Amino acid sequence: MKVVICSDAAQTRRLAAQVLAQQVQTKPESVLGLATGRTMEAIYAQLAKRAEEQSIDFSGVTTFNLDEYIGLTAQHPQSYRYYMQTHLFRLINIPEHNTHVPDGAAEDVKAEARSYESRIAQAGGIDLQLLGLGENGHIGFNEPLSALNGRTHVVTLAQATLQQNAVMFDNDMAQVPARALTMGTGTILDSREALLVVTGAAKADIVARVIEGPVSALVPGSALQFHPHCLVLLDEAAASRLTQREAIFWQMQHDPELQAFLSA
Ligand code: GLP
Repeated sequence: MKVVICSDAAQTRRLAAQVLAQQVQTKPESVLGLATGRTMEAIYAQLAKRAEEQSIDFSGVTTFNLDEYIGLTAQHPQSYRYYMQTHLFRLINIPEHNTHVPDGAAEDVKAEARSYESRIAQAGGIDLQLLGLGENGHIGFNEPLSALNGRTHVVTLAQATLQQNAVMFDNDMAQVPARALTMGTGTILDSREALLVVTGAAKADIVARVIEGPVSALVPGSALQFHPHCLVLLDEAAASRLTQREAIFWQMQHDPELQAFLSA
């Protein structure tokens, strides 16, 4: 993993938007894996702003979102399809048929999971997968004890996730859908590049477990240690519990790729 510790959350978001923008500028037919959650809202706002200012063309881009709640239609304001329309898709020139979010309202959700996996394969796989981190270490909705090589599947959400996401559902845990469709950890590991973005002190402990290990199904994000090209962007607060901070800062100062990225 290449880890960058930013001075604050604003720099973290700016760099994340930069990675996404550069991916599309370098390869206009990119297949992007996208994430939801509060962390991503500001990143998408920055990306859309850059897209407008620099006329970045998304018309050839294809996207696959990580996950979706089962039982919510695309029109439900808390569905991840609705989130993506609101925070990104309506702000850039991506054709709607190029955007994929698992269909949480599908009659046969297991068939939807299989079809999602084959649509990713048909698109040629994911070039760059954007990821956030749940407070319990989940990536996508791969909860603790998920198979570290799993494919797109149906999950029952962990109690911690229902609690964490209740804030989007009138602070009422009972309103949060109990199940979801998610890319598997194996699907995520197959992406050619991964970008994990985490901010805030509440995730400092889990960030240390994800980055410094051990790799464990108890902490699905720790599987990213197996990803050959994973960049992690953290703010100071999220990085505060890492024991390897000095080694990380040394890398940031001496790795030519990181140097070029940080001075762009
Ligand atoms: C949801 C998503 C995850 C995301 C997580 C973090 O649970 N399924 O993919 O990483 O939220 O959310 P936040 O950024 O709001 O902390």
